[in-house]
Amino acid sequence: MVIASDIEKFQTYLNGKPVSLYKLVNLKGNEVSLTNYGARIISIIVPDKFGVKTDVVLGFNSIEEYLNDNTYQGAAVGRFANRIAFGKFKLNGQEYKISQNLGEHCLHGGYEGFQSKVWDVIEQGDDYIEMTLFCPDGEDGFPGNLNVTCSYRLTINDELIFECKATSDADTVVNFTQHNYFNLMGEGTGDILKHKLKIFSTKYDEQVEGNICISDPVSVSGTPFDFSGEKLIGQDIHSSHPQMRLGHGYDHNYHINDFDGSVKLVASVLADNGINLKVKSNQPCCQLYTFNWADGSQTGKSGNKYHKFGAFCLEPQLAPNAPNRPSFNKSVLRKGEVFQTVIIHSFGVEDKN
Ligand code: GAL
Repeated sequence: MVIASDIEKFQTYLNGKPVSLYKLVNLKGNEVSLTNYGARIISIIVPDKFGVKTDVVLGFNSIEEYLNDNTYQGAAVGRFANRIAFGKFKLNGQEYKISQNLGEHCLHGGYEGFQSKVWDVIEQGDDYIEMTLFCPDGEDGFPGNLNVTCSYRLTINDELIFECKATSDADTVVNFTQHNYFNLMGEGTGDILKHKLKIFSTKYDEQVEGNICISDPVSVSGTPFDFSGEKLIGQDIHSSHPQMRLGHGYDHNYHINDFDGSVKLVASVLADNGINLKVKSNQPCCQLYTFNWADGSQTGKSGNKYHKFGAFCLEPQLAPNAPNRPSFNKSVLRKGEVFQTVIIHSFGVEDKN
């Protein structure tokens, strides 16, 4: 577990900017550690049903390890979360070519994504932190100088509220998410296949090679992708369904039921130790990713290696590849307007039956 005395392993300067470790604590004594490098969550410590304090997210003990991470551990993700096919899109009749940092495609905004930036901490309290970031026009090929503010707040009710908002001085496209790798049984304790998951969605995006979404969503009914009732994550994960093969596990986008722009319950997860996570967001979609690409090369905070299916990510977002999918394109941020993503991770305990 990351403890306060480890702060020196996070204190450094990167590109001339100070980096540090910050801690949010609520009145119950539950806590979240984070760093302004990538606005990344390092640990979330909450009690299980027996009162045992459990660190429910993957992460590392030093800034060096985060610098070597290419899995977006705990990070704020932008300026465009998920994939943009073939690294290009059209906006206002003009074609923009953006970084192709994943084969032919753009993943999570390209090489200069939020996860690799040092954010400026502008406000900080016991249970709150606010950071800003400036992304210049043309970075990774995206138009518009983007001013981004992101904040984390840990409430007395054990809700971790993430807000990310941005304005641009020219029309552009954006998509933000938060990339925690959860294991509610405790970081590094094994796989998450026995976690029970419900996603408030009956439609998901099928993909083509490269995890690219190009067509309209389809019904989850009768497929391994149906989490509309509660189901163990591992129940169908080894299915030979072609979409499961393409994703090497779950790495798919769900369209949330009855999306209306308000903050809604997106998903709920329950582990054997009684820890229950509810994910709420104002975003229309959510990616489920089961750490399919983990190859055991990363060693986590407690000294255990991170293996395939050792965590799950639930990433509220706009539709992947939205700028190239006219019917799902909510990603255009007009000059002078504000785009805001809200994601709430709410922790509690209940019995798993
Ligand atoms: C997810 C994405 C995965 C993988 C991961 C980062 O959002 O869907 O395919 O790229 O991020 O390693």
